[in-house]
Amino acid sequence: MSVPEKVLTNQDLERMVNTSDEWIRSRTGVSERHISEPHQSASYFAIRAAQEALDRAGVPAESLDIICVATVTADHLFPGTASLVQEAIGAKNAGAFDLGAACAGFIYGCEIVGSMIQNGTVERALLIPVDVLTKFVNWEDRSTCILFGDGGGAIYMEAGDGERGLIAGVMRSDGSGAKHITIDMGGSRYPFCSPESKGRINKIYMAGPEVYRFAVAAMGESCRAVLKKAGMSVDDVDLFVPHQANLRIITAASDRLGLPREKVYIHIEKYGNMAAGSIPIALYEAEREGRLKKGDVLMTVGFGAGLVWGANLIRW
Ligand code: UT7
Repeated sequence: MSVPEKVLTNQDLERMVNTSDEWIRSRTGVSERHISEPHQSASYFAIRAAQEALDRAGVPAESLDIICVATVTADHLFPGTASLVQEAIGAKNAGAFDLGAACAGFIYGCEIVGSMIQNGTVERALLIPVDVLTKFVNWEDRSTCILFGDGGGAIYMEAGDGERGLIAGVMRSDGSGAKHITIDMGGSRYPFCSPESKGRINKIYMAGPEVYRFAVAAMGESCRAVLKKAGMSVDDVDLFVPHQANLRIITAASDRLGLPREKVYIHIEKYGNMAAGSIPIALYEAEREGRLKKGDVLMTVGFGAGLVWGANLIRW
């Protein structure tokens, strides 16, 4: 995993906008978040996480067949950030592509890269969900600037004996909610400096309450669907690692699913919402803390801009 060193606390935010530590903690669960420096783009964190993942797996970069960077905050519109990572780590035999599934980047990435391995297209892969959303935060909008942090992780994937790894996954989308979380300008619809972009903004807009309602429902729906697909129940789940957008969303959805609090991994207080980066960093820390052990059944769920969402079951 890789996160910026710089930490922005709720007390720092109290000096920037009309907010309070009490409001932020009680409404979101966030106490602090890591904020990238101007020179630290998505590839900066992706490269560091990739190098650590390869070191820990004991796999040389040249043996990788594919690199997938799951991000909505790529270094550039093009080239893809995955190509920048491929060059930086010396993965000279790998293909590279970016995947844009917002806060469901880990879920979509596991499904896509996992399928490529299962059907024999590739043998060795690196999935890197990473985001630097604070680059696009409107620091005058108190309803969004308190929520986000930067960072990401890297997951090395290869074919196994079938005993451990991906069990099942579901991917969903509802484009009718596209307007609820956007960065309007900077793509091909409203290109920078074009006449069409006049009056448009290149910062994050989010309709918080609408997304909140969607998130709780989407978490429940996709978790129930993936459990059904695998022929499992919540009792089979050893650890639940949801996307970390709001503590209240996590507790509401876990309660409705009937998951006891000790089975739910939460780190939002330290990091805020890191979009695609939240789940891989949670997995890294859960394993380090001894909460995720070999053979455990892990359920992850992600949801965000698109709207997209999904869940997967993994035997660790
Ligand atoms: O990863 C992508 C997915 N994103 C999410 O899942 C986020 C989902 N949404 C949320 O987490 C919540 O909607 C927020 C945390 C964004 C907002 O919480 P809320 O409880 O839905 O608050 P609200 O937007 O309904 O606002 C309630 C009040 C408003 O004041 P009035 O109009 O009632 O007087 C806001 O102006 O809270 C006010 N408010 C704040 N007050 C102090 C909004 N932001 C702040 C703030 N500090 N930072």
